[in-house]
Amino acid sequence: MTSVRELLRSLPALSGRPPRFDPAAAPHDPIDLFTQWFTAAVEAGVPEPHAATLATADAAGRPSSRVLVLKDVGPDGFAFATDARSAKAADLAANPQASLAFWWQPVVRQVRVAGAARYLGDDASAADYLARSPASRAAAAGVRPGEPLTSVAELHASLAASRERIAAEPGYVLPSWQAWLVVPDVVEFWQGSADRAHVRLVYRRTGDVWARSLVWP
Ligand SMILES: Cc1cc2nc3c(=O)[nH]c(=O)nc-3n(C[C@H](O)[C@H](O)[C@H](O)COP(=O)(O)O)c2cc1C
Repeated sequence: MTSVRELLRSLPALSGRPPRFDPAAAPHDPIDLFTQWFTAAVEAGVPEPHAATLATADAAGRPSSRVLVLKDVGPDGFAFATDARSAKAADLAANPQASLAFWWQPVVRQVRVAGAARYLGDDASAADYLARSPASRAAAAGVRPGEPLTSVAELHASLAASRERIAAEPGYVLPSWQAWLVVPDVVEFWQGSADRAHVRLVYRRTGDVWARSLVWP
């Protein structure tokens, strides 16, 4: 039987089809380049390109990461939403720094974002919650992030009760729902290449001004 080690070493990496990327022609603002790359990812059929890995660290610097979806991107930064009861929210309350990593395999592109994490406030959080579908609102309201669960049946029962509640009370806002922003200081665009001549274009912000430079892969 093939060992996992053999299996791991037999698999190709960077097997997507890289689009053309000329870093010399890249826009001055990384949000503009992110928008270009994100649109290209959607057009290339990248599955769920809005899913990203969010890394946080607790007060002692212990890191953890998880996948979530990007809710918006604009001049202020990269928005996501989560539950205040989650481990990531506890990390951010203690240490409001975060990073996001996107991996778009079919186009061999990675984007990395790092910066301060800012809570967007109760109004923005309520608006984000109410913009979710009834099923997503019920899913968020029917769980207790990180708490011990006795059985999967208990989870299903809680979600069923939550769906009934949301149907009966469509204006309900989950008080623990939080919208957050990663305000980027550094954004790296990584264009992979089968010949390993990967192009890394790094944007760094000083005040309101972005500087960009190539770095060796
Ligand atoms: C594709 C995908 C999208 C997800 N989207 C979110 C999201 O938008 N917000 C969120 O809090 N968790 C989302 N999750 C669940 C998180 O990965 C994670 O399980 C959960 O937030 C608890 O993480 P924590 O204990 O580190 O806080 C998503 C998971 C996947 C795989």
